Amino acid sequence: MRVSLLTKPLNAADGDVLILGAYAEDKRMAEPLARVDRALGGQLGEIFKAEKFVGKAGQLTHVYTNGRLAAKRVMVVGLGTSGQLTPEAIRRAAATGVRRARDLGARVVSVEVLGDTLPVGVRARAIVGGAIMGTYTFDRYKKEKPDRMVEELRLVEPEARRAREMREAIQIGEVFGGAANFARDLVNAPANEVTPTYLARTAERIAREGRLKLKIYDWAECEKMGMGAFLGVAAGSDQPPRFIHLTYFPGGRARKRVAIVGKGVTFDSGGLDIKPADGMLRMKNDMSGAAAVLAVMRALPVLKPPVEVHALVAATENMISGRAQRPGDVVRAMNGTTIEIGNTDAEGRLTLADALAYAVARIKPHEMIDLATLTGACVVALGSLCAGLLTTSQPLADRVKAAADLVGERLWQLPMIEEYKEGMKSDVADINNVGPRGGGAINAGIFMKEFVADVPWVHLDIAGPAFSDKDLPLGPKGATGFGARTLLAYLTELK
Ligand code: BES
Ligand code: MN
Ligand code: ZN
Repeated sequence: MRVSLLTKPLNAADGDVLILGAYAEDKRMAEPLARVDRALGGQLGEIFKAEKFVGKAGQLTHVYTNGRLAAKRVMVVGLGTSGQLTPEAIRRAAATGVRRARDLGARVVSVEVLGDTLPVGVRARAIVGGAIMGTYTFDRYKKEKPDRMVEELRLVEPEARRAREMREAIQIGEVFGGAANFARDLVNAPANEVTPTYLARTAERIAREGRLKLKIYDWAECEKMGMGAFLGVAAGSDQPPRFIHLTYFPGGRARKRVAIVGKGVTFDSGGLDIKPADGMLRMKNDMSGAAAVLAVMRALPVLKPPVEVHALVAATENMISGRAQRPGDVVRAMNGTTIEIGNTDAEGRLTLADALAYAVARIKPHEMIDLATLTGACVVALGSLCAGLLTTSQPLADRVKAAADLVGERLWQLPMIEEYKEGMKSDVADINNVGPRGGGAINAGIFMKEFVADVPWVHLDIAGPAFSDKDLPLGPKGATGFGARTLLAYLTELK
């Protein structure tokens, strides 16, 4: 989908569909909708009445213009109450509208800069991001490809003096939406394609295209660095593990150095503590954190923020074989901490332990953020639309939350309850990789805290929102790309 700026009045905006917004509480139609309605001889007002269209979020209606306007059809999307207009409401309205336009067979879609209460740039980038995410499909493995596709999206802004702001907003919207979709593709592709080697190749491609620095460590090199926790997980798989370290250096002086770490378990069978069939079915999504982190690295060379960003992924499968790690085994992580394997299915924290310890020892970042589909307990606590946040630094957490807010991703902080470390004691090692059943998402955070030393750290447990069993406002069921846009907003200090 190409996205462009159209500097014309709405009545002159051509295309197969022109999308306009309407607020819920407007008794009389507001401009510019009213002007379009007059051009259509009051047809919009009639259809609003007939269809009980009142501008509620998610509502949508359309009419044919029969030559009375430049566009073939006018579509109106509900924006909800004007006082409560958020970028997310705009994102969802744009996604709904453009998706519907596509299903009507539209190839060229014009859209007004929906709403009027937020800065025009904020609204424009929400529209573009929403349209790109909302029309996402995954059909790589299907014989039949969808024949309907929006080829061109035009943002209509009559005022030429806003062109610069609009162009910049369009680019941000494209990069953010594109990052989410890139992550979605990686997660939706099955585990027989997306192996640790595949993730490493993807990192190579991203490095080449964005001129990033890349180092990939194989088994022997990881062993030399002392990554016993990561390799313990990898032991049962025939797929060789890969430790990926990608770096983005800004053009000028870096304001700070940030490490972003993504859980990259390309398939989680549970290991010898095997998962039941139901629980295993979607475990190709256990690399959603890695997908988000790679998507971010692909976007940074375009957005060019003045920060040095290191992306780390300890990529492996968690499988079963005669060489698989056993419950009761003891492994030694890169920072020297020994870990008793209380449960082979708590593998994510083991891979992250070495990734975090590597960051501390080799990168010495000013702060680090990890994204991981880490615990079913977090899904029980917060459901499928919200990630858990645990942190050793409240200021960092607050900044990450603000970034998430801007892009419409939900985070909820869980407390770091130090006493819960008692529950993760081991008789034979420094720590056990599991604790009692209660507070599972917190236990995981407490475990990982052992490996971050004094680096300010935020952990995002995205087990719930990374994947959806049903269609959502911003995309079809399957991978959501959760986390990529929050990280991008954070790293670029989006306002
Ligand atoms: N990858 C899973 C967590 C998960 C569950 C992600 C559901 C997405 C949806 C993780 O490796 C895991 O198996 N965690 C265990 C930990 C337990 C053994 C302490 C869990 O949540 O059951
Ligand atoms: Mn697991
Ligand atoms: Zn897992």
